[in-house]
Amino acid sequence: MKAHIDQLFEKSDLSDKALLALLDGMSDDDVHYLFESARRKKQLHYGDSVYMRGLIEFTNYCKQRCAYCGIRADNGQVERYRLNKAQILQCCEEGHALGYRTFVLQGGEDPFYTDDRLVDIIRSIKSSFSDCAVTLSVGERSRESYMRLKEAGANRYLLRHETASPSLYASLHPGMSQENRIQCLYTLKSLGYQVGAGFMVGLPNQTHADLVADLRFLKQLSPEMVGIGPFIPQKDTPLGQVPHGSVRMTLIMVALTRLLLPQVLLPSTTALGTLDSKGREKALRAGANVVMPNLSPTDVREQYALYDNKICTGDEAAHCRQCIERRIVSAGFRVDMGRGDHPDYQTSS
Ligand code: SAM
Ligand code: FES
Repeated sequence: MKAHIDQLFEKSDLSDKALLALLDGMSDDDVHYLFESARRKKQLHYGDSVYMRGLIEFTNYCKQRCAYCGIRADNGQVERYRLNKAQILQCCEEGHALGYRTFVLQGGEDPFYTDDRLVDIIRSIKSSFSDCAVTLSVGERSRESYMRLKEAGANRYLLRHETASPSLYASLHPGMSQENRIQCLYTLKSLGYQVGAGFMVGLPNQTHADLVADLRFLKQLSPEMVGIGPFIPQKDTPLGQVPHGSVRMTLIMVALTRLLLPQVLLPSTTALGTLDSKGREKALRAGANVVMPNLSPTDVREQYALYDNKICTGDEAAHCRQCIERRIVSAGFRVDMGRGDHPDYQTSS
């Protein structure tokens, strides 16, 4: 196994067969070696830096019905909310004062946020905080829409592919098309966004071969960012009784992604911190180099319940800022409050 890991370290690629062999057969010692290799690779490109992004969950309305997601349209148990422009700017104001230079606007697929409304919000953020990057994560939209949002000043876009398996994708996303989601990712790339794809680990019936397909998809797309988190059940969804994904396997996927895409910006996700109190530190030591503390107003955080027992729902932004910094330092790294663009996009405005 170590020979495979060494080859991956040197060539930034490995055959599907060898990747599958790693997933099927690594001992604890091999996994330790993999994490160490991923950490070294991260170090080569980013040193000790861990980038901070301020996450603003601005709407929990969603027209989609993803089987795993707590804010799916069919969930009648969620109290829905939307933040208006003034509230979003207030979150940015607070985040900027705490040192954040990237704001991630995330929400369900909410038709209330038309292109005009989003353009207005993005322009206002960019004119008030001209030293900041804006990342959007609002799902599938048309090419024209993505173009207008880019012209308004959006720099980056997160759109996880969720799973590269066609059958798994179809079973989890009624009324959606995997082809369209993948097309959206390529469209975003062609428009000059820094793009984030990603997937969940531990979806029901997901095999190791499916996870290899996720890695292969990432290698082909070559996104600037990748979000990987364990699946965690939310009680009011069709998958509410399904067991959560494994922390160990999620960390393995984080490490393999670092080795396949050495310069990628790779968050240590809140979902990992939810399943394991040291999960975020472990991901940083397995090759992750980004954290996304929450800047949403505390009175709406509980309502952005994608999965059960989500952490940080009651914590003020300043508290999260300090908490995360402590965790980063304890894992052996240092906070970098810069914009943290991908190395290929250093001059983005
Ligand atoms: N609507 C946007 C989209 O589709 O990309 C962004 C918001 S969506 C709620 C953000 C991410 O949450 C999804 O891409 C999915 O991977 C993750 N997520 C949703 N439900 C989850 C669950 N039960 N466990 C773990 N992650 C989940
Ligand atoms: Fe929010 Fe730790 S990051 S409390």
